Amino acid sequence: MLTGKRILLVIGGGIAAFKSLDLIRRLRERGADVTPVLTKAGEQFVTPLSVSALSGSKLYRDLFDLTDEAEMGHIQLSRSADLIVVAPATADLMAKMAQGRADDLASTLLLATNTPVLIAPAMNVRMWQHAATQRNLAMLQDDGIRLIGPNDGDMACGEFGPGRMAEPLEIIAAIEAGFARGPLAGKNILVTSGPTHEPIDPVRYIANRSSGAQGTALAAALRDLGANVTFVTGPASVAPPSGVSVQHVETAAQMLSAVQAALPADCAIFAAAVADWRVANAAASKMKKDGAGKTPALEFAENPDILATVSQMKTGRPALVIGFAAETDDVIAHAIAKRLRKGCDWIVANDVSPATGIMGGAENAVTVISDAGADGWPRMSKAEVAKRLADRIAQALNG
Ligand code: CTP
Repeated sequence: MLTGKRILLVIGGGIAAFKSLDLIRRLRERGADVTPVLTKAGEQFVTPLSVSALSGSKLYRDLFDLTDEAEMGHIQLSRSADLIVVAPATADLMAKMAQGRADDLASTLLLATNTPVLIAPAMNVRMWQHAATQRNLAMLQDDGIRLIGPNDGDMACGEFGPGRMAEPLEIIAAIEAGFARGPLAGKNILVTSGPTHEPIDPVRYIANRSSGAQGTALAAALRDLGANVTFVTGPASVAPPSGVSVQHVETAAQMLSAVQAALPADCAIFAAAVADWRVANAAASKMKKDGAGKTPALEFAENPDILATVSQMKTGRPALVIGFAAETDDVIAHAIAKRLRKGCDWIVANDVSPATGIMGGAENAVTVISDAGADGWPRMSKAEVAKRLADRIAQALNG
């Protein structure tokens, strides 16, 4: 139910605007207060009278007159809602939002707001697939804006493909999911991810093949359960998830500092593939060949073990500390020993031999080792591993 929830509904100019009338009706049936905003283009598809009659509320339109400003300024209007829903979100509205433009009431409200925003895009399939729209979408998602749809289907323009606005009931399900407090709401969780780069000189470094995919999927799954996630990442090849606080680092030493700065936390998960060694005699300027075939002798120093440092904290240790064990042989035996040596609560063991295709791949096969024993999971996507692990973390933290 959405009893008492205040929803500001921005109706953009698209044929799908007719579905927004049904959306208003269904939102009100569920107890929500709907304040509609109709763009100039939206008025071409639905009438102001039908929108205000269905919503039972004053309709706000593009042209703000002084009476409106006196009653409720656009800043207040944008912030008095619990959620702003943009349906249909046209390509033009999405572009304005991504650019931060404020040249009409709808775009001004969306720029001035500090409330969550959900968009339900609707447009021609080519417009949706255009690089510019996809770029704008990526920017909006990075800004934490939530998305529902678009769906595949026959379109009013006669084409077929993604671009149809999600159905009113799907939009309502997304709204309800947004209001539901997940089992990790209020929990602070730290996740490390990706490789580290250890400099040899200012232009060269030692790295490893970690893509950051598993850590990124985990951070997203924890976020989806409502956690406040701090994501400390080395130079990974996958982009960090939206809706988490991201700290970029390069070296193991920097990762340790970022982790310490992010504590206290309820749970800390160390999915990063941290370099065990750094180059102790890294050169301050680019190393040159000497012309006589002499090769440089790199000396190594051991990096701090971030997982062990946090696991063994005397005060302020997170209640649940989880490590990963990337092994190529005797996976379980090594992982059991590693858990005891480092002092973490759980260790997630995986076989990273090249033949498994796990390191840098889309799938993972893990065994979760804890006090309760070793729990082997079947091979599944990294996103599914993340979801399952996030659920188990939620149970442990709430148990
Ligand atoms: N880890 C860490 N800091 C390090 C090295 C590892 O925090 N300097 C963490 C990793 O994020 C992972 C766990 O420790 O959660 C195990 O990493 P792994 O590379 O498998 O183990 P190593 O410590 O390198 O042990 P070994 O060399 O024996 O495999």
